[in-house]
Amino acid sequence: MKILITGGTNGMGKGVAKVLAGIDNQIHEVILLCRSKELGEATMREIENSTGNKKTSIVLCDLAKLSDVRNAIDDIQSKHKYLDCIFINAGLGYAAGRVETQDGMDSHFQVNYLSQFMLTLNLLNLLENSQNGPRVIFNATRVGKIFWDDIQMKKKWSYENGIFQAMVAKRMFLYKLDNLYKTFKGSKVSFVGFEISETVWSNQLNIIPTPMKIMATIMKYLGTFISIEKCGMIMAPLFTEKQEDSKMKSGKLITWKKNIFIEKDEDKIVLNDEMQDRLWKISLELCNDEKTTQTSKSIYGI
Ligand SMILES: NC(=O)c1ccc[n+]([C@@H]2O[C@H](COP(=O)([O-])OP(=O)(O)OC[C@H]3O[C@@H](n4cnc5c(N)ncnc54)[C@H](OP(=O)(O)O)[C@@H]3O)[C@@H](O)[C@H]2O)c1
Repeated sequence: MKILITGGTNGMGKGVAKVLAGIDNQIHEVILLCRSKELGEATMREIENSTGNKKTSIVLCDLAKLSDVRNAIDDIQSKHKYLDCIFINAGLGYAAGRVETQDGMDSHFQVNYLSQFMLTLNLLNLLENSQNGPRVIFNATRVGKIFWDDIQMKKKWSYENGIFQAMVAKRMFLYKLDNLYKTFKGSKVSFVGFEISETVWSNQLNIIPTPMKIMATIMKYLGTFISIEKCGMIMAPLFTEKQEDSKMKSGKLITWKKNIFIEKDEDKIVLNDEMQDRLWKISLELCNDEKTTQTSKSIYGI
């Protein structure tokens, strides 16, 4: 499988990248979409040294900049004729205060959701070219709500609400794509949400303030966290399983409990068609990108 991973330089994305590169006789090709060339290359070397897989590559993209997303799309389109999988994973976590991006958006909304909305829409044609059961896996948790009258959270901000709002937006995007693709005859692409049921010891632990770090360290010794590699091992089958198995999970939020994948219930509001349409239109306007608008028209009609 040829798998594009957003946020593959740390945390859950890195865990998934390491495991996928190492399994199945190192057959899988991992592409890390990352914001730092140095960190991207160091991660590539780490993966190569620990797995022997030499097929890993990087695509540079700061998801806080829509111009970078456009360049990354063009870069990927020029280098690859197909993709088998995209892992929508990158995300900002803890932040001490609201950071506005150069595109004028709340950084959690843009990084964790909007830029990846634009990226995914523009790479769907590469997934359609796949012969290996193409799929988009969304790192998604069932929390949050959309602050419709203040999506950029200018009036009231908290990093938790920023993360949670983006989680809802991602899930709405996933269900909309799944519904659209189900109407296409012969469509092969599946869209799967995955919620990790345990907390992963990720780079967030290096970013949070000291009191939170102390608390987390205590919890670590009580066995509350799992490693990024364990997370990668849990998730790997979602990327490598047969097309028919992936298709069965399409349009669902899946979690891993007692050693099996199970479906989670979803909030009615997130499944609501009108709400999904509303968010899609807002997202397109915010992307303000001709090619994204054209792609949307071709699959959605708007
Ligand atoms: N950890 C958990 O237990 C947990 C549980 C549920 C959901 N999640 C979700 O999992 C996802 C990953 O989180 P994590 O805990 O693994 O955090 P993490 O270790 O901080 O990893 C986040 C990844 O996203 C990348 N990223 C952040 N901002 C970016 C930007 N502007 N452009 C490009 N890449 C960017 C980071 O790049 P750098 O390496 O350059 O920082 C890193 O690779 C998030 O969406 C999070 O909400 C995590």
